[in-house]
Parts: sequence; C-alpha cells; structure tokens
Amino acid sequence: MAHEATLFFRQLLTKPKQVSAIAPSSRWLARAMAAGLGPHSGRVVEFGPGTGVLTRGILAAGVAARDLTLFEMSPDFAAHLHATLPGVTIHHAPAQDAPKLIAPGVSAVISGLPLLSMPVGLRMEIVQAAFDILAPDGVFVQFTYGQKPPLSPELMAQMHLRVSKGPKVWANLPPAQVYHFHRA
Ligand SMILES: C[S@@+](CC[C@H](N)C(=O)[O-])C[C@H]1O[C@@H](n2cnc3c(N)ncnc32)[C@H](O)[C@@H]1O
Repeated sequence: MAHEATLFFRQLLTKPKQVSAIAPSSRWLARAMAAGLGPHSGRVVEFGPGTGVLTRGILAAGVAARDLTLFEMSPDFAAHLHATLPGVTIHHAPAQDAPKLIAPGVSAVISGLPLLSMPVGLRMEIVQAAFDILAPDGVFVQFTYGQKPPLSPELMAQMHLRVSKGPKVWANLPPAQVYHFHRA
C-alpha cells in the first residue's frame, strides 16, 4: 500500500534507530512468523508492528482480532494501526512495558523489533518482558537479518532459554532468518 510505504519511510528518516530496517517485512516473512498460529492459539502479542505487515499475517493465520494485542512505540504507526485494525488492542507503549499492561498466559509473542540494533541490556529486558507474559509453553518468535540469534548462548543460558531456527525467508528485503525461543 502506497500510504503505508510513505509512512514507513517517513518514520525511517525521522527515527532511524527505532525503525532500523530498509523496508517493511514481506508477506512471505509475515506468513513464516505466524506459522503454527490459528483460531485456537488463544492470546497472541506482537512487539513493534510498524505498519502492520506481520499483524495481518497473524490475523490471516486465523487469530481473532480480540485475541491480539500490539505494542508499538511510534505514535504515527500506533495511530495508523488504530485506524486500520478494528478489534485489535493497541498499546502505544514500549514492548518492555508489556508485563505492566497485560496478564500473563499468552501463547506467542511475535516480534518485529530490531533487536540486533539494540544495546544488549535492552535486548534482554525486551526478551524477559516477553517471557514474563508468556505461558510456560509459550513461544517468542523473532526474525533477524544477521547470521546469529539476537541473544548469545551465554545470555540464553543465563535467562534459561533455548532457541531453534525457523525458516530462512529469501523473499524479503533483506532475506530474514526466523528464530523460535522457548523456556529451556
Ligand atoms: C523494523 S520495524 C518493523 C516493522 C514491522 N514489524 C515489519 O516487520 O515490517 C521496527 C518497529 O519496532 C518499533 N519499535 C522499536 N522499538 C520498540 C520498542 N521498544 N517497543 C515497541 N516498538 C518498538 C518501531 O517503531 C518500528 O515500528
């Protein structure tokens, strides 16, 4: 959508560190990030939805709008999401505040955050926030453009997490690697 592309690039120019991507995710990446979700997934949370590409993938997988909660820091993106996603709960708030705003027991946290561009302390705070709201068997799904997961093996051991590789999505700019994090 032309309007979404304009919005994305305006945000990229004004807040390059916060956006930290050269283009919105592709619909193929959205499908890969939402794989395994469906009408019976229960509550799902998304961190850093931007213009809502991954959000639409989550809804297309069958998650009901009333079961989906978004955390987006940019006021312009949050206003756009409010206008285009009826029934979805949208918090104009940082992802790391999620445990203060919603009850635990979520089945999946889907993250489009640029974790690799963030300082390690903030990365850990955000991943910890995800696990504070996830059910014991819940999954944190994150993509990166880099070759490695966004947390080192040492940090994952410290946080009692394990990671597995999901698909590599070549039809994305740049190609993206999906990771699934679970409690160890
Ligand atoms: C790389 S863009 C991804 C947008 C979209 N998920 C996609 O894949 O096309 C990163 C998004 O995360 C948001 N963001 C960055 N830091 C955040 C934080 N701490 N909490 C919530 N949103 C954040 C930015 O405003 C931006 O919308």
